[in-house]
Amino acid sequence: MSKTRKVGFTETVLRDANQSLIATRLPYSKFESILETIDKAGYYSAEVWGGATFDVCLRYLQEDPWERLRKIRAKMPNTKLQMLLRGQNILGYKHYPDDVVRKFVEYSIKNGIDIIRIFDALNDVRNLEVAVDEAVKRGGHASGTICFTTSPVHTLEKNVQMVKDLQKMGVKSICIKDMAGIMGPKEAYDLVSAIKDAVPELPVVIHTHCTTGLAFMTCLKAVEAGADVLDTAISPMSGGTAQPATETLAYALRTLGYQVDLDDKVLIKMADYFKGVRADFIKDGTLDPISLTTDTQCLNYQIPGGMLSNLISQLKMMNAIDKLDEALAETPKVRADMGYPPLVTPTSQMVGSQAVQNVLAGERYKVVGKEIKAYCRGEYGRTPAPINAEIQKKILGGTPVVEGRFADSLAPEFEKTKKELGATAKSDEDVLSYIAFPQVAMAFFKDREAGFPKKDAPKAAAPAAAKPADLPPVPAWQGHVYYANVPGSAANGATSRPIQPFAASYQPPHLVMGGRDGCPGNYTITIDGKSYQVSVAAADGAAPAPAAAPVAAAPVAAAPVAAPAPAAAPAPAPAPAAPAAAPAAGETAVKSPMPGNIFKVECQPGQAVKAGDVLIVLEAMKMEIEVSAPVDGTVKAVAASVGAAVNTDDLLVTLG
Ligand code: CO
Repeated sequence: MSKTRKVGFTETVLRDANQSLIATRLPYSKFESILETIDKAGYYSAEVWGGATFDVCLRYLQEDPWERLRKIRAKMPNTKLQMLLRGQNILGYKHYPDDVVRKFVEYSIKNGIDIIRIFDALNDVRNLEVAVDEAVKRGGHASGTICFTTSPVHTLEKNVQMVKDLQKMGVKSICIKDMAGIMGPKEAYDLVSAIKDAVPELPVVIHTHCTTGLAFMTCLKAVEAGADVLDTAISPMSGGTAQPATETLAYALRTLGYQVDLDDKVLIKMADYFKGVRADFIKDGTLDPISLTTDTQCLNYQIPGGMLSNLISQLKMMNAIDKLDEALAETPKVRADMGYPPLVTPTSQMVGSQAVQNVLAGERYKVVGKEIKAYCRGEYGRTPAPINAEIQKKILGGTPVVEGRFADSLAPEFEKTKKELGATAKSDEDVLSYIAFPQVAMAFFKDREAGFPKKDAPKAAAPAAAKPADLPPVPAWQGHVYYANVPGSAANGATSRPIQPFAASYQPPHLVMGGRDGCPGNYTITIDGKSYQVSVAAADGAAPAPAAAPVAAAPVAAAPVAAPAPAAAPAPAPAPAAPAAAPAAGETAVKSPMPGNIFKVECQPGQAVKAGDVLIVLEAMKMEIEVSAPVDGTVKAVAASVGAAVNTDDLLVTLG
């Protein structure tokens, strides 16, 4: 192996490191001023878009993701911009029809993307074909991706076959995507060697995470075996669940005699800049120090970087962080049941959520998300090994399984949606945003139309809340978190819920809100220079109070989590949702099987329902969970309203 060989670098700080460490919460305004510097560093490419950035921009950052891309493009004319695309799933969790996939690829390239890294969670190449074909047609660089995983069915031969299939499709490089950080130096050496033997003309890119501590060794051995490009993150945003540090690998490879075309002076400027960014996110709690540690459990559990931090934040949200070990132990079992899918979005969420549900429900597969059902029907593609037949039967009942490529059964959607949206969509890009995330995009369009509410303070003055002197003293044990409740979810660690209990005497501050729909909604309040996210709900599902009326921020019940408990345990504040009234004789109470948010209400009072009919769809653990009628009957009352937070056993619907 000639040591003068050049090794390229892909900088991930704006996408994967951002996603893995700080739940993709980096707003454009916080990195705009460093873009021109990054552009001078000499990277092979910069990963700046796709993955969770799209969803989070729309949902939390009041940013149009397309506009973000155009702005980055304008500031970085010399660097290839790269995005991550989930094949037929685009950026979401379900399969989209081919016309949508093609449009998405077309507009990604039109707006500035050069390299599209395309993967399928199941490594089913049929799910990559359309996206690769369109990227090639539009003059883009399609990077065909193998999701690395280990299992009894993932052999070297199988991976080599996949690479050959990808080459036939027209990919210009091969990426080995080790989303869990479980690829060791030996596996990397063997796999890269095998790929280089099979397709010597295709550059090989290594994408891994430092989660297990293997990454630096893995990258080095991969380079020795012939890997051409490494994904790295600038040092302050590297390590832990993110990528290995750019500067460290550049140094090591140079001293070993490889050619590295990075400008060290530029890297120093970047590192200085991102030290400040990191400090801010540590201060506000977004960057959990646990994400920066080495966790070798992943070697057993195969938990991807994002999934681990997500699992932790989801369990915290459910006040069940003590169940983390159980959930981690259940995860590989669910994965085996599901035919050893690699754990990457969306399968990582599906398997992780199912593992949590199996643990929380006290019975395996008692509660099953819509996505897992679809997966068992074959809607995500061919599973690496067959799904456990008994469990598949329990989940599906008699529903038939899809044969062939699922997207073939989907009708074109783009033009139809464009027509439906009419003037609401200002561009074809808006239509694509809507197709990818309908509810989130619609809320974004409305906010955009209305002028975004100020992020750091409620629109209308909040005199009571704004003055720290008016607030009750905060006992030390409460730490800095009052509570935060962000309904909905994003692709990574999106939601947080109360993680500290209230003192029984504690009265939440009264706020005067002037949000877009009156008062209910999510707000950031700033007290003493510190920002807190609060969720304000109308009491008892009543109509939103007028904008001027004071509304109490309704606290959500919370149990102490890993915090020093106060001497006198405080009574948790009452939950805001669904009062759990005992049903009258002859009535059946349909309760929430788990904590989450009401995503859809699919029944109305007076409606006759049959056992098994879906009444409510919960969004929990980033999954849609269907709550069905346990018996035939008539809907007497619906206690749930869309967007409300519910806990386990909260009443949702009463059947008579
Ligand atoms: Co990654």
